[in-house]
Amino acid sequence: MHVIATEQPVGEIQADALVLGVHEGASLEGTAAEVDSLTGGQLTRLIESGEIATGRNKLTSWLAPAGLGTDHVVVVGLGDPGTFDRGAAATAAGSAAKLLAAQKRERVVFLLVDGWEEELVCAAVSGAVMGCVGQDLYRAETKLYAIEELAWQTGHAAAVDQGLLLGEATNLTRRLVNEPAGIIYPESFAEVASQVASETGLELEIWDKQKLEEEKCGSLLAVAQGSDRDPRLLILRHRGAGRENPHLALVGKGVTFDSGGLSLKPSDSMKAMKCDMAGAATVLGTMQAIARMHLPCHVVGLVGLVENMVSGSSYKLGDVLTARSGKTIEVLNTDAEGRLVLADVLDVALQQEADHLVDLATLTGACVVALGTDVCGVMTNDQDWCDQLLATAARCGERAWQLPMFPEFSKQIRSNVADIKNIGAGRWGGAITAGKFLEEFVGEASWIHLDIAGPAFQDKPKAWIDAGGSGAMVRTLVELAGQLAPEAP
Ligand code: BES
Ligand code: MN
Ligand code: ZN
Repeated sequence: MHVIATEQPVGEIQADALVLGVHEGASLEGTAAEVDSLTGGQLTRLIESGEIATGRNKLTSWLAPAGLGTDHVVVVGLGDPGTFDRGAAATAAGSAAKLLAAQKRERVVFLLVDGWEEELVCAAVSGAVMGCVGQDLYRAETKLYAIEELAWQTGHAAAVDQGLLLGEATNLTRRLVNEPAGIIYPESFAEVASQVASETGLELEIWDKQKLEEEKCGSLLAVAQGSDRDPRLLILRHRGAGRENPHLALVGKGVTFDSGGLSLKPSDSMKAMKCDMAGAATVLGTMQAIARMHLPCHVVGLVGLVENMVSGSSYKLGDVLTARSGKTIEVLNTDAEGRLVLADVLDVALQQEADHLVDLATLTGACVVALGTDVCGVMTNDQDWCDQLLATAARCGERAWQLPMFPEFSKQIRSNVADIKNIGAGRWGGAITAGKFLEEFVGEASWIHLDIAGPAFQDKPKAWIDAGGSGAMVRTLVELAGQLAPEAP
């Protein structure tokens, strides 16, 4: 996919299709006004008659317009100009791109962004790059064909480049989530990571099973022990600033398949559990973008990779594990495995002495019950840090909502035989008891836990993006990393 900026006059553009945006109830400006005059006022008439819809993300294919160098204009409704933001820019561009990607096309020119500020251009480009790619990895007849050249009518060429990097990083995360568990398992995930590292200059340290044993990662290893696939722990580093300790440590849950273990999931709950490594995939995608953008900050990404399986060597209910931190954990449900993996990875992360920690995990079904499938659950022990992330997510158009971490929830994870147990007292508040469990392993560090069980994997497609892995939070985390750089405003 080639993504470029262009400033060709509208009348001279040759393309398979043009994409134009129109706001609801607003007069035509810029390129839209130009298209209107080139077509002898046809655009105005089509909008006035209601043939072209202007509601947000409404698409109209306008075929054979007079006076233009193309046979196809896709008009995307931008809705109310008062609420138009980066999220809206991304979904508008994504919707048009996804519609056009239904057929092979060589060149599509997005007039859409003409006159937009840099941030909106960047968001639109990333949205279009995401819209063109979906769940076609294993289909002979693909539903989406990545458009060969996406050209953007704008003077903000750097924003176009950034948008491409963000879109590609998000698509990397999405692809890894979409790959079945037979293809992406701890060792093969590590191979993808080392490829990304060598392409981008990220430093990469890989801990295999033996090293994990030496490092006494008893909690992570217990989850892994039922599988024929050995676990891995990866430490990726972007040293974009000279300082010794990182500004930020990102930690990802990488359960490449979650059968539930002996607390076996029913088939219906298990069928999408290839997505249980989305936290790890988000960390890798984010690190890729941070490196390719050369952000002037020091960021470390850690992922714990295991398969949660059933066999004669599976960990058992009633087992007491000793985590790397020394804490003992009573296992009362082998399906609450993500927190066991993260317990050890968070401990390794603490040793990095980063200013701030963020972990990402498809951790609980309870979080999906609480917030639905599009909203990321946010828990923290540092409200200022959390406010910064929430504001960043809002600016990026990603949905995130904070859940309380009241101390009384910790009572639920007290154990009769160990320091803590791996489940709460019942189903209620399950996202929070999981968050409270993780909090036991972050000491005094400034920390945020993102439960992405809802948004990371979608059962149904949207107008602007296919179903499957969504790449949720990649854009927010890249932006957040950018803010931590010393030069940031
Ligand atoms: N990976 C699941 C959580 C999940 C559910 C992710 C739905 C994506 C979609 C996690 O490991 C899990 O099984 N959690 C249990 C915890 C329970 C046993 C305390 C759950 O949510 O049921
Ligand atoms: Mn589980
Ligand atoms: Zn899981």
